[in-house]
Amino acid sequence: MADTNAKLTVNGEEYELPIIEGTLGRPVIDVAALQESGFWSYDPGFKVTAPVESKITYIDGGKGELLHRGYPIDELANNAEYLEVAYALLNGDLPNAEQKADFFEKIREHTAVHDQLRKFFEGFRRDAHPMAIMVGVVGALSAFYHEDLDVSNEEHREITAIRLIAKMPTLAAMSYKYSQGEPFMYPRNDFNYAENFLYMMFATPADVDYEKNDVITRAMDKIFTLHADHEQNASTSTVRLAGSTGANPYACIAAGIAALWGPSHGGANEAVLEMLDEIGTVENVPEFMEKVKSREVKLMGFGHRVYKNFDPRAKVMKETCDEVLEALGINDPKLELAMALEKIALEDPFFIERNLYPNVDFYSGIILKAIGIPTSMFTVIFALARTSGWISHLLEMHSAPYKIGRPRQLYTGETRRDFVKVEDRK
Ligand code: SDX
Repeated sequence: MADTNAKLTVNGEEYELPIIEGTLGRPVIDVAALQESGFWSYDPGFKVTAPVESKITYIDGGKGELLHRGYPIDELANNAEYLEVAYALLNGDLPNAEQKADFFEKIREHTAVHDQLRKFFEGFRRDAHPMAIMVGVVGALSAFYHEDLDVSNEEHREITAIRLIAKMPTLAAMSYKYSQGEPFMYPRNDFNYAENFLYMMFATPADVDYEKNDVITRAMDKIFTLHADHEQNASTSTVRLAGSTGANPYACIAAGIAALWGPSHGGANEAVLEMLDEIGTVENVPEFMEKVKSREVKLMGFGHRVYKNFDPRAKVMKETCDEVLEALGINDPKLELAMALEKIALEDPFFIERNLYPNVDFYSGIILKAIGIPTSMFTVIFALARTSGWISHLLEMHSAPYKIGRPRQLYTGETRRDFVKVEDRK
């Protein structure tokens, strides 16, 4: 019979801490009783802390398993469209035919952005990083929807979720076009979600006979699905914390974009390509690996806080990579280099002892590069796709009573001392 309570004894006092079972994964110990103990719990980096209860995504890091609303990620990526997965993240299950048609139509209706929003782009240097632009313009969206910003209103939350999922491809493509000095392309609502994004990225007004590529479209849609959500990662936790203050969803998603940008998180896909460029050839791999082991550099695209086995997304990404390169007849030496790196790492005790495996970012950059997407846009695409996950977590938080997030600390600064006038300070 498993314990129903954990017992904590400190300074002669005993505290009963309830154990709460989930449907999958580790049970949690509710530490609220620490409030009376005179102690805080201490867990830098939240390695063993579950700040929320959620029904959206489950990861088993040991098995390398990722479920969205109970469906394995490889089955979703290989059999569903990204917008079906977004619907499931938002609503609890995959849509039936009628729900799918209705949701897809709603997204199509909201792909355009207010023409005045174009002026925000002109304020950026022409070589601004697209992620810098995205942090700015997504937050700025809240300036265009004053009438629907009340997060306590379910209808406002729902239309905002539709607007954000619908407009992210348009804004992402605009951030790319701006950096290229090319005119923005209006969304085409006769195209599906991934087709529309690729069209807005690569077509120009002169392209009267723009042609879709089904292989690239399918790969793009799969990449969106593989990045849609991932439990309480750093950017999703940022979105939830910002949302716990009652901030509007556009501001919360902008905060998530900012957090995702870091090279330890969503910025890793861009860093993987830069790393492969730095290594150059397979002959240089052993020397680079020595730099990794001496901790001069990290092997970008490897390792994960949760996965201590293969990231299941990396497996689908690698399969997609092979499909795209073959279909496009591309023989990218970077893929050969990445595979050599992976092989060496998976056989090396340094990586084996630390459970370091390829993560979602290791192969994604090679596919995106093959599709013609510049490195600077990789994390923008991650943010585009993760918006459905971020907004699903925000709506989940608002669907039940919640408190503002306010962590405490271990203070190790100065103890109380008398003020000293500037003329008397040494
Ligand atoms: C994403 O959280 C999510 O779910 C994120 C994400 C999502 O979908 O939202 O999955 C997306 O962010 C994927 C991760 C992308 N980042 C990278 O690829 C950057 C490289 N990876 C590392 O920075 C690192 O692995 C992290 C940040 C991802 C995880 O770091 P942890 O969990 O804090 O692991 P750690 O630093 O405690 O590592 C344990 C050991 C350490 O060595 P020791 O000090 O014990 O000797 O492994 C080493 C680390 O130095 N290590 C690495 C390494 N990652 C960890 N050594 C070399 N190369 C690496 N990549």
